[in-house]
Amino acid sequence: MSPLDLQEQIENGIANLPPPVGNVPVSSIDLYDAAVLTDPWDYYEALRDAGPVVWLERYGVYAVTHYEQVTDILHDNETFGSSAGAGLTNFRTTKPWRVPSLLLETDRPEHDRTRQQMMRVMNPGAIRAFRPTFEALAADMVQAMIDKGECDGIADLAERFPLKAFGDAVGIPTDGREHLLPYGDMVFNGFGPANKRFKDCLAGLGDAPKWIAQACKRNTLTPDGLGRRLFAGVETGDLTEDEAELLVRSLLSAGLDTTIFTLGIALVNLARHQDQWEILKSDPSLARQALEEVLRYDATFHTFYRTTNRPVEVCGVEMDTNQKVVVIIASANRDPRHWDRPDTFDITRSASRHMAFGTGIHGCAGQMMARLEGEIVLGALARMVDRLELTGEPVLHFNNTVRGYVSAPLRVTAKA
Ligand code: HEM
Repeated sequence: MSPLDLQEQIENGIANLPPPVGNVPVSSIDLYDAAVLTDPWDYYEALRDAGPVVWLERYGVYAVTHYEQVTDILHDNETFGSSAGAGLTNFRTTKPWRVPSLLLETDRPEHDRTRQQMMRVMNPGAIRAFRPTFEALAADMVQAMIDKGECDGIADLAERFPLKAFGDAVGIPTDGREHLLPYGDMVFNGFGPANKRFKDCLAGLGDAPKWIAQACKRNTLTPDGLGRRLFAGVETGDLTEDEAELLVRSLLSAGLDTTIFTLGIALVNLARHQDQWEILKSDPSLARQALEEVLRYDATFHTFYRTTNRPVEVCGVEMDTNQKVVVIIASANRDPRHWDRPDTFDITRSASRHMAFGTGIHGCAGQMMARLEGEIVLGALARMVDRLELTGEPVLHFNNTVRGYVSAPLRVTAKA
């Protein structure tokens, strides 16, 4: 069957492919169905209970859901590669919707070269230097929420903070930053099937790709921002100009929606679990630990893929070469084989070994930045806010890969 035929069948929900080899539990769960995206936890539990490796017949892929096997697969990047795409689409047979990422969608040795350039820029000292600016910004934004009293946690903080803080840190133009949101949405929809959600998003992109391409250019970026610093690799001969631009694109596509959704999820969970909010409020130094628990309990990034580079056996399941494997990191974060009381939101636990940033050579290159932003925002809330209450139901955003909210109506009062 040609890849196009398969894609069409998947879109029409009639793929129902049998496992190619061996004896493996089969599931008809559609990871991209609205019901699963709305409340995925019971579905993940069913998959975990079926076995460490399950065949998803609708998409013709293996799903890996247990913490142990997720960790093993992400560390075995030679067998489970990324250059055929970190999504469902197999780049070996189907043309990707955009030029592949030089980081996320490459294997060694190419990946080592680009990752080194990214980490040269995203080094701990460079990230730490943003702390005072970010703290002042977060305090201003939280104060504005308090002044309003009734506000939207997403528009007034979860979106507003990274768009300003991260946008300035990278050094992109202020005008037009709103294009980054549909673009990020597209990138993460693109890791799933070419379903209606994907097609609607692609059709609604408008000028976003053009704006992003321009924002990634050397002369558009501020002289001292993270984006411009990537171009030092061109002077040393380690990158071409086009490659430096693509690495700036990685910052913009991977660094914004993820952080926005995580901050929104943090607000919603703290407001829903008032006992945990009381703990954080009485000890703002727990902000970082609270963020880690948010990332474990209600991860933003749910799924991504690897492709087998050779035949391999995982927990008794024989996989062929060139086989897509969906790695469900959000399920690993709730695996009772690894976590005590996995379905309890407890900010006093040590959750930092969660899988929300992935692990191995592709482990999130921006996690220091994400952690800095998250800790500062939660710290400002804990220090300045007394009551943090939902006044209505938060509205979920549907995306094939990442999960978060588009609005979260809140009542916020100042600490005495
Ligand atoms: C809470 C926010 C974030 C979450 C949950 C998150 C999650 C992830 C995950 C799960 C991966 C691994 C994907 C894979 O293995 O295929 C990843 C990779 C990546 N992330 Fe993040 N991310 C976040 C924020 C950021 C930020 C702020 C940046 C940029 C400053 C960033 C840049 C990247 C890049 C460049 C990669 C590719 C790394 C590679 O392939 O070597 N991320 N992220």
